[in-house]
Amino acid sequence: MITELMNGFDVVGGSGRTMKNLAVFGAGRIGGVHARNAAELPDVNVRYIVDPVESDARATLARALDAQIVSTEAVFADGSIDGVVIASSTDTHADLLLTAAKAGLAIFCEKPVSLDFHTTEKVAKVVEASGVPCLLAFQRRYDPDFRFVRERIASGEAGDLEHVVMHTRDPAPPPRSYIERSGGMFRDQAIHDFDMARYILGEEIATVYAVGDCMIDPEIGAAGDIDTAMVTLISVSGRFVQMVNCRRGPFGYDQRLEALCSREVLYVENRPQRGVTIGDGTGFRASPPMNYFIERFSTAYRAEMAGFIDHLNGGPPPLAGIRDGLEAQRIAEAALLSVKSGQPVNIGADWRP
Ligand SMILES: NC(=O)c1ccc[n+]([C@@H]2O[C@H](COP(=O)([O-])OP(=O)(O)OC[C@H]3O[C@@H](n4cnc5c(N)ncnc54)[C@H](O)[C@@H]3O)[C@@H](O)[C@H]2O)c1
Repeated sequence: MITELMNGFDVVGGSGRTMKNLAVFGAGRIGGVHARNAAELPDVNVRYIVDPVESDARATLARALDAQIVSTEAVFADGSIDGVVIASSTDTHADLLLTAAKAGLAIFCEKPVSLDFHTTEKVAKVVEASGVPCLLAFQRRYDPDFRFVRERIASGEAGDLEHVVMHTRDPAPPPRSYIERSGGMFRDQAIHDFDMARYILGEEIATVYAVGDCMIDPEIGAAGDIDTAMVTLISVSGRFVQMVNCRRGPFGYDQRLEALCSREVLYVENRPQRGVTIGDGTGFRASPPMNYFIERFSTAYRAEMAGFIDHLNGGPPPLAGIRDGLEAQRIAEAALLSVKSGQPVNIGADWRP
């Protein structure tokens, strides 16, 4: 890749794309994925890693990317930074979003925006008013299979969408320490499905009816959360979505979607670890699904980061922005209320928990 300096901008390969300097917040599970994906792009320099906790993961990441480990203040004091990747613990997102928006930096932020809906609403307003580019990391929108379903429905090829069924089951319950900081299953895990419902339907949700309980892991119940839920959503135009969410799948990570349309049914199936089924006299054995999100969505995470950088170079807007984070969270809050009250909850743009 030829990089030349023109008019104060690093122009990459004569394509009109300029080098982007990024700072990544969080060197944990997902921060490592995003930082490495960003660094693989030809026009990105991951200059800084910010994570206050000293760890092997942090040191290895910084070394692998030739990035410096610095403080939050150092990032915002450096005028050469173009954008931030916020992949730190959820309780840090809101402040970092506000600071980055104020500094005029482009933002790639993990879900959820915050654990408190009113804070999410305030942050969304500030980020939108600032006009900075902002991608909210609902990576399923960048998964080739989920995106294919959305585009086939939107094109009219499949006929009219009538209803959607989704399954999300984690391979095993996370530890209690994770649950305690997660904001609960609806804000932490099912938020991806709430977003997917809006994405596939192409419209807002009007009614949320949820049941949920702790049926698998008493530690989750002791932390005040649920591990099993079924949620019915009704869209503004009256279409139904049925969701199954669970913190355990005895066969591994379960991540499926079915969209029934007037001409076709579209299935997103689990992706097997190995594309070979073994048969013998006792029957056939398929390989289990890809173990968890980092494997299952590896393509989506790469496409999501590439989409963010393309946007900074004048490409189309991200597939999900801060408003999508807010709307998915509104549904999560309504689901929580529905479980508590045992009643369906009608929502709209003005509804707040
Ligand atoms: N979209 C997805 O598929 C997906 C998957 C996993 C996690 N997430 C989200 O990403 C975020 C991180 O999750 P994780 O699983 O990587 O957690 P993690 O615990 O593995 O990593 C979080 C890291 O953030 C660091 N951190 C804490 N405070 C910080 C601060 N002020 N500045 C910078 N770093 C700080 C922690 O030390 C830790 O290393 C969460 O909000 C989570 O909901 C999204």
